Amino acid sequence: MDLRLSKEHLLIRDMVREFAQKEIVPVAEHYDRTGEFPLPIVQKMGELGLMGIEVPEAYGGAGLDTIAYVLAMEEIARADVATSTIMSVNNSLYCHGILTFGTEEQKREWVTPVASGREIGAYALTEPMSGSDAGTMRTRAELSPDGRHYIINGRKSWITSGPVAHRLILFAKTDPTAEPKHRGISAFLIDTSRPGFVRGKVEPKLGIRASATCELFFEDYLCPVENLLGKPGEGFKIAMAVLDAGRIGIAAQALGVAEAAYEASLHYARERHAFGQPIGAFQMIQQKIADMKCRIEASRLLTYQAALAKMAAKETGARYTTEAAMAKLFASETAMFVTHQAVQIHGGMGYSKELPIERYFRDAKITEIYEGTSEIQRLVIARNELGLR
Ligand code: CAA
Repeated sequence: MDLRLSKEHLLIRDMVREFAQKEIVPVAEHYDRTGEFPLPIVQKMGELGLMGIEVPEAYGGAGLDTIAYVLAMEEIARADVATSTIMSVNNSLYCHGILTFGTEEQKREWVTPVASGREIGAYALTEPMSGSDAGTMRTRAELSPDGRHYIINGRKSWITSGPVAHRLILFAKTDPTAEPKHRGISAFLIDTSRPGFVRGKVEPKLGIRASATCELFFEDYLCPVENLLGKPGEGFKIAMAVLDAGRIGIAAQALGVAEAAYEASLHYARERHAFGQPIGAFQMIQQKIADMKCRIEASRLLTYQAALAKMAAKETGARYTTEAAMAKLFASETAMFVTHQAVQIHGGMGYSKELPIERYFRDAKITEIYEGTSEIQRLVIARNELGLR
């Protein structure tokens, strides 16, 4: 595995770093405190091509590769995890899903406005009674008697960008009698301005507070048959394949917040004095620094490896499920470990809202939960290793 970054990749990383440090860092605390959606920032990110990084220019994107995507995610998350969540769903769950499974017409109509950042995309899989066990969803899509529409009824929960999304990929049961049950699920492209689409309560959250999350209701929503994504019954596989890509983005996000917490800790360990010397001179702090650094670098290797596997899959069609799950699992647990240690190194200041350390700690937690919990990543890795799936 060759992990040397090309000149082009370094330029992209530096450009995104400069933007994030200048435009996002100064306002991150405001958006976290108020829970407002950072629309002006998202618009600027759209202008920079960050809302559709891997989307070909013909469909409004930047036409870059997965390494560029991972580098950009890392830099945005280093500045603010919530903003990187909005970016991640737009890029890897929404745009990637349609680019991979959509028709030419669907790509033009549904990807272009979202990849260019003019509109926001979302991905609606989870339901109140169906989280990790995604195949048990109850949302129903029935073909209308004239065969022109699917009539959709049901409820989705925990939908990232749900309160603001213009468009989404929705998963619903078209055949509730199918066995195994996941073969009765199909995917749909949803225009949220159509009647029958209702946004529910916005979730108050521990972290990523500027990333809006809510319930969605479908009440006799008429989805034109041409907005079916893939074939009927293919929805579960589409959902899983899209999550493989999404999990690489979450790994990069986790890496970014871990780096932010680590850099702040290094600085503090050098500057803060106790017992007549910088606290970094104490071995108990040094042990934390060494463990944080090792886990961050190991996360980076797994994340870039997964990005390379996804790029190779474009040619070979091979799945990169295990690589993505390993990257997400290790990087998210690293983010939690590193931000926890960062709070401890900062002591009272780590617990105070005067510094961003407590925000990093609150924000990092979600990376162990969404797009598949750490338990689900372990299950995916082990099943694949044992050949059980
Ligand atoms: N790619 C393509 N196909 C896949 C696949 C993948 N990665 N993983 C599974 N499949 C296929 C299998 O080959 C199988 O196909 P067949 O019908 O031919 O047999 C089918 O899908 C069913 O697979 P399983 O039997 O393994 O399915 P399962 O019911 O046991 O579930 C699971 C497996 C891994 C637990 C899965 O349900 C899962 O990943 N759950 C977690 C869901 C999740 O991540 N939710 C996050 C919500 S989205 C979110 O958080 C977004 C946000 O807003 C930020």
